[in-house]
Amino acid sequence: MNYEVVIPAAGRGKRMGADRNKLLLELNGVPVIIHTLRVFEDDPLCSGIILAIHPDDRDTLEQLLTQYDIKKVTHMVQGGEERQHSVYEGLKAAAEEIVMVHDGARPFIKQTVIHRLAEAAETRGGAIAAVPVKDTIKKVQDGFVTETVERSSLWSVQTPQAFLLEVLMEAHREAIRTGFLGTDEASLVEKTGGKVTVIESDYDNIKLTTKEDLVFAEAILAKNDQ
Ligand code: CTP
Ligand code: MG
Repeated sequence: MNYEVVIPAAGRGKRMGADRNKLLLELNGVPVIIHTLRVFEDDPLCSGIILAIHPDDRDTLEQLLTQYDIKKVTHMVQGGEERQHSVYEGLKAAAEEIVMVHDGARPFIKQTVIHRLAEAAETRGGAIAAVPVKDTIKKVQDGFVTETVERSSLWSVQTPQAFLLEVLMEAHREAIRTGFLGTDEASLVEKTGGKVTVIESDYDNIKLTTKEDLVFAEAILAKNDQ
């Protein structure tokens, strides 16, 4: 089952504190966004990549796509104020029955996970990548613990998140109607009563968010090169 992927890449990377979009920072001499794009470029099931970008990055990104011979980007749409807006702009350009949303800032996603997500989206409507939480999680109020949450039911959610295009589009339209802003696609689908399956991913699929993550990223690259 073929799929299209929407990659939100229009953020400003404020928490990274770099002098530019964190996706343009290099790992092993290659920009983060290229690492991410290569996974989909090399996946035969990926029929097209829709990039949501910030206008300031357009020239740089166009030049990088040529330089690194990335051929599957069919659209570069202008992103919005929040990630959810960027994703929605991307979805408007999508046409495949199955669409996946994947953060530009997660360069270590594996093809095996992507394929399991695509398959689950086709049969069940929606699927997200996630890993079991390793830490004990507590609820805290005013500096005091109010509750220890049962860990076995907690998952740390990542991207990709894969859906039937119509399911995700309708969830976005409903979010616009109600003014709901979620931090991932699944939360929008959940609001509309849609079922979302969890596909176990791995702990390498980190999102590069703060400076420390660049150190972890170098370590993951070194491990994968062995
Ligand atoms: N993103 C986007 N449009 C936005 C905000 C974020 O396309 N308005 C993208 C980012 O480029 C990133 C992904 O969504 O690939 C996940 O967002 P996040 O990690 O929060 O990145 P930034 O928003 O860039 O970082 P920060 O929140 O620290 O500013
Ligand atoms: Mg952000």
